Amino acid sequence: MSGNKQNIQGLVIGANGLIGNYMGRLLTHKSVLWKGTCHNRTCSDFLKLNILDDDLESIFSHFSPDVVFHCANLSGGVDFCEEHPEIAKKFHLEATQKIGSYCKEIGATLVYFSTDYIFDGTKGPYQENDVPNPLNIYGKLKLQSEYWIQEHLKKFLIVRTTNVYGWDPKTLTPNYIMNLYPCFISNFLNQ
Ligand SMILES: NC(=O)c1ccc[n+]([C@@H]2O[C@H](COP(=O)([O-])OP(=O)(O)OC[C@H]3O[C@@H](n4cnc5c(N)ncnc54)[C@H](OP(=O)(O)O)[C@@H]3O)[C@@H](O)[C@H]2O)c1
Repeated sequence: MSGNKQNIQGLVIGANGLIGNYMGRLLTHKSVLWKGTCHNRTCSDFLKLNILDDDLESIFSHFSPDVVFHCANLSGGVDFCEEHPEIAKKFHLEATQKIGSYCKEIGATLVYFSTDYIFDGTKGPYQENDVPNPLNIYGKLKLQSEYWIQEHLKKFLIVRTTNVYGWDPKTLTPNYIMNLYPCFISNFLNQ
């Protein structure tokens, strides 16, 4: 223990989301001591956290993780960001900066899930050093977060994921395959 804080190996922010959920399972499988957070969908195993308010301070005053996996996502996804740029900025950029600052303070590594939306899609598959050119607000904010992390942190990993899919019936942001599935079923029934 450092001070009154509980040392843990991993903190998964957004542990009941699509990526966070699998991250948590992997950590458990590897016998890593970790805590997870949830937001709207309460889960008894996880701590309640809203990265848009002061909850972050409380979490980091209670736990001292070695690695923070930032897997939170704004409900409504890319379209919501276009329609609500101010909220999107608070969530995707400013909250990431706060999380990064806490990581720096306690010497934790930040694992940040970015996106291929930082590219314009005119070619691909993209390599790490390809020049980004985001076309929408979501992509621009994720790229700004990447730049902030690279400038301010020494211990970090940026993962540019693309079109992760899986089955999560309670999600507020259905992924690509979940959107396709009802079309597939109705086409099948109409045959
Ligand atoms: N899925 C993809 O295809 C994809 C592609 C590229 C990049 N990414 C990136 O990967 C990360 C994770 O995406 P995902 O698809 O796994 O997300 P997701 O399934 O939509 O899950 C989002 C997670 O964030 C939590 N959350 C929502 N609002 C929050 C808030 N205000 N404070 C704290 N937690 C909050 C949710 O908790 P509750 O459910 O309890 O509300 C949930 O655990 C995101 O940064 C996203 O940009 C995803």
